[in-house]
Amino acid sequence: MNGEEIKSCCADAYSRDIVALLLGDSYHPGGTTLTRRLADRLALAPGMRVLDVASGRGTTALLLADAYRVRADGIDYAPANTALAQGAAQAAGLADRAAFTTGDAEHLPYENAVFNAVVCECALCTFPDKPRAAAEFARVLKPGGRLGITDVTADPDRLPPRLRGLTSRIACIADARPLTEYAELLAAAGLRTLLTENHDAALHHMIDQIEARLNLLRITAPDRLAETGVDLEAAPSVLDAARTAVADGVLGYALLTAEKETGRHDAPPPPTHTHPRRAA
Ligand SMILES: C[S@@+](CC[C@H](N)C(=O)[O-])C[C@H]1O[C@@H](n2cnc3c(N)ncnc32)[C@H](O)[C@@H]1O
Repeated sequence: MNGEEIKSCCADAYSRDIVALLLGDSYHPGGTTLTRRLADRLALAPGMRVLDVASGRGTTALLLADAYRVRADGIDYAPANTALAQGAAQAAGLADRAAFTTGDAEHLPYENAVFNAVVCECALCTFPDKPRAAAEFARVLKPGGRLGITDVTADPDRLPPRLRGLTSRIACIADARPLTEYAELLAAAGLRTLLTENHDAALHHMIDQIEARLNLLRITAPDRLAETGVDLEAAPSVLDAARTAVADGVLGYALLTAEKETGRHDAPPPPTHTHPRRAA
């Protein structure tokens, strides 16, 4: 499967209602609590321009426009998600501060240096050309602007076979990278890591939540569940494999902030790494 097919497949999967049934509005571990934590580390101020790359149904961008009073743009590969996000902006009375576009993270349809901040939650792990997406984040950021990412981390060599297929790729697992590799590819694009945090517990919690919701749907809406095409035979072993991989440190979730270099040549301070005690 080539890069374009992978993007389409991922976008199609995340346009399906079963994803909202299993995950709720926020399609990433930690939900809006982790999004707020990320936003707090981006030094956002009212009126700033913020881009949410792979904005899904718009939850992150709308939260930023509402709670942080920024002007938020969201871009997602799935036209159905763009339409839902735009509708949600109107319903929330935020259409003047939040706009959504269909497009590709690897070819952002924005001018150079227009955003004060770029966020990308649970999506860089799925992009086929990660260096290209990182270069695009850097291109659209103003000098000194900040990038905020929350994403799946993985040690690809230690992933069990159950977590290596196309379904796992779409589920943000099979092409996830170690946190150090994300920091390196961002550095190559001129984005200096400021902070990283471990949020593995949030991923563990999401796996439990998916399992509980699947079990509930089996009882309350078996016909609806059957229509979604979820492989109910395979689901328990995939969820178990994911849970074990998190426990073994093979799979995780992390928050990272970075800053676009301003062209200064003095040595940057080393990034800080923290392990919050409580899952976000
Ligand atoms: C796991 S969901 C995360 C959505 C959102 N960031 C959130 O946290 O709720 C991944 C999203 O990435 C989008 N996506 C996948 N490939 C993309 C690409 N190349 N450009 C833009 N969006 C993409 C999918 O359509 C999907 O909405």
